[in-house]
Amino acid sequence: MKGACVWSLVAVCVLCVCVAYKPVIIIHGLFDTSADFINLHRFINLVNHSSDNIIMCLLLLLCVTKSIKSARFGLHCKCTFSICGLVCRGILSTLPDHNVHSFISLSSPQAGQYGDTDYLKYLFPQFVKSNLYHVCYTAVGQKISICNYWNDPHHRDMYINSSDYLALLNNERANPNSTAWKQNFLRIKKLVLIGGADDGVITPWQSSQFGFYDENETVVEMKNQKVFLMDFFGLKTLYARGDLILCSMAGVAHVFWHSNETVYKTCIEKWLT
Ligand SMILES: *[C@@H]1O[C@H](CO)[C@@H](O)[C@H](O)[C@H]1NC(C)=O
Ligand SMILES: *[C@@H]1O[C@H](CO)[C@@H](O)[C@H](O)[C@H]1NC(C)=O
Ligand SMILES: *[C@@H]1O[C@H](CO)[C@@H](O)[C@H](O)[C@H]1NC(C)=O
Ligand SMILES: *[C@@H]1O[C@H](CO)[C@@H](O)[C@H](O)[C@H]1NC(C)=O
Ligand SMILES: *[C@@H]1O[C@H](CO)[C@@H](O)[C@H](O)[C@H]1NC(C)=O
Repeated sequence: MKGACVWSLVAVCVLCVCVAYKPVIIIHGLFDTSADFINLHRFINLVNHSSDNIIMCLLLLLCVTKSIKSARFGLHCKCTFSICGLVCRGILSTLPDHNVHSFISLSSPQAGQYGDTDYLKYLFPQFVKSNLYHVCYTAVGQKISICNYWNDPHHRDMYINSSDYLALLNNERANPNSTAWKQNFLRIKKLVLIGGADDGVITPWQSSQFGFYDENETVVEMKNQKVFLMDFFGLKTLYARGDLILCSMAGVAHVFWHSNETVYKTCIEKWLT
């Protein structure tokens, strides 16, 4: 799983959660440490989860999915996780026998990223969003994490042809394992997508809920996206089952999602019990 680490160079946080006293696994973003999650840890304990069951994932631990599958959680619940929501989704899609009940994605660029953020400037100081596709949609570029989910709405063909992570995971590019991946992903019981307009990092913020830009950089909501309409990887099935929950909150900057009690109470708590 060393490769998984490479995908995740953005501070997004995700919970892969198992309900009702099953282990709760928290995946933090690359620029966080477990100490940043003290508040969330406290919130979760309040609803009767023992602290033993809450893992504050460290970067290296996150990449050892197999050990998590086997020893730690016994037969109850094989939670899988990784550093960010996209990587977590990848694991849920590619791992045939996972037993994750609720997948709570906390402001994660599920539909990709297209924006000049601080992270982008840090990684590619000499590039702006409009020309990053020159780098990203190449074999070398795809070795850089943000390029794996860089989704340039003006170069959709190149994205679909070149993205070795997001386009594959979304089954936007044909892949012999698509059917199996969709079945694996649909093992989850609930998909909770949390995001909000004041995030400041995920661009467009609606990407956290599978909305994204069209060619004119107008945001098209999830339900009008091709991946949803064609049910490429199970989103529409989840929606039809009533298992797709969107929770939007204004006034929360990216780094505060996990420590905001209102967010916890409104968007997370009820999916843990
Ligand atoms: C949860 O914890 C509270 C406070 O410790 C306790 O009063 C309550 O009975 C617990 N609920 C369950 C279902 O264990
Ligand atoms: C994408 O791939 C298809 C099929 O291989 C090819 O016909 C098309 O020209 C490619 N488009 C771009 C922009 O690379
Ligand atoms: C499809 O699954 C097979 C067997 O699990 C694996 O060897 C192969 O690499 C997968 N293909 C892709 C494109 O991931
Ligand atoms: C984008 O804008 C152009 C010019 O205004 C328009 O012709 C086109 O239909 C728009 N595309 C979409 C997908 O709305
Ligand atoms: C927490 O969330 C609430 C509701 O969205 C928001 O009004 C508040 O500003 C947030 N607080 C912080 C510190 O982000």
